[in-house]
Amino acid sequence: MRKLVVITGATGGIGAAICWRLHADGYGIIAQYGVSHDRARMLGERIRSGGGFFEAIPCDLSSPDGPAIVTQAVQTLLEANGAPALRALVNNAAKLLGPGFGDATVDQFDDYMAVNVRAPFFLSQGLAPLMPPGGSIVNISSASAHFSSPGDIVYAMTKSALESLTRNMAEAIARAGLRVNAVVPGFTDNGHRAFQDPAAYDYMSSFSVLGGVADPDVVAEAVSFLISDRARRTTGTILDVTGGSTLAARNRRASSVRALIPDS
Ligand SMILES: NC(=O)c1ccc[n+]([C@@H]2O[C@H](COP(=O)([O-])OP(=O)(O)OC[C@H]3O[C@@H](n4cnc5c(N)ncnc54)[C@H](OP(=O)(O)O)[C@@H]3O)[C@@H](O)[C@H]2O)c1
Repeated sequence: MRKLVVITGATGGIGAAICWRLHADGYGIIAQYGVSHDRARMLGERIRSGGGFFEAIPCDLSSPDGPAIVTQAVQTLLEANGAPALRALVNNAAKLLGPGFGDATVDQFDDYMAVNVRAPFFLSQGLAPLMPPGGSIVNISSASAHFSSPGDIVYAMTKSALESLTRNMAEAIARAGLRVNAVVPGFTDNGHRAFQDPAAYDYMSSFSVLGGVADPDVVAEAVSFLISDRARRTTGTILDVTGGSTLAARNRRASSVRALIPDS
């Protein structure tokens, strides 16, 4: 039986690309997602029709029980499939962008923290013990953790916390022979309509010193490297695939890309 990987947020633009890339690398895919059942079904059909292993776990990660439910489901899947090795967890699911400093509510704040920080923490705590030495965890952060974007302050804070989790967990589980790293994407075309809006695209493109926005495959490629033995001496690091978005001051700033999209 091939080694398995757990990818959260598998129905999103970047999550689906990670599933495809790790399937191409020969891993079996356990895909967590929230409510996009049709996307999960189509992804599963395509990966299975290509000879791959795919199992989906729908689960709301904003719920306090979410990580434990996913952990239990993964354990059951491993046992049902002859207990193959769990090679990696990719903490990719997130609530994106917003809310801003002036209008964030307590409920919104808690919801972002629950999905973007609490869930990766407890999923990692639950799944790391199921991994043999050589396994690893990859957290998907964001360039937002590295510059100010006050219209997305809560989101940015969650990604800073995720990078802190990356460093601290790297030491916490190193003795088990496990590694932890993060990937930092800049603006990445996940299929959201913002990437079709000329003003929003132009603004997002202005962040990268290379210009343009990334394709989700860029993030998937970084994940593929970090969970492989090619990265066997790499732990506690943040791999930047932002196209240099964190290097240079931007010519103009909006409080959030949402400010450029009508009716958002
Ligand atoms: N796209 C970018 O420009 C960009 C830039 C920097 C960093 N990132 C990071 O890259 C990662 C992937 O982003 P993306 O662009 O692919 O986002 P996306 O297309 O919006 O996908 C988000 C994924 O997270 C899942 N999710 C959200 N809330 C959930 C919840 N409460 N419970 C369970 N699952 C939930 C969604 O599942 P359902 O749809 O099934 O509910 C979906 O699979 C995120 O960590 C994001 O912060 C993205």
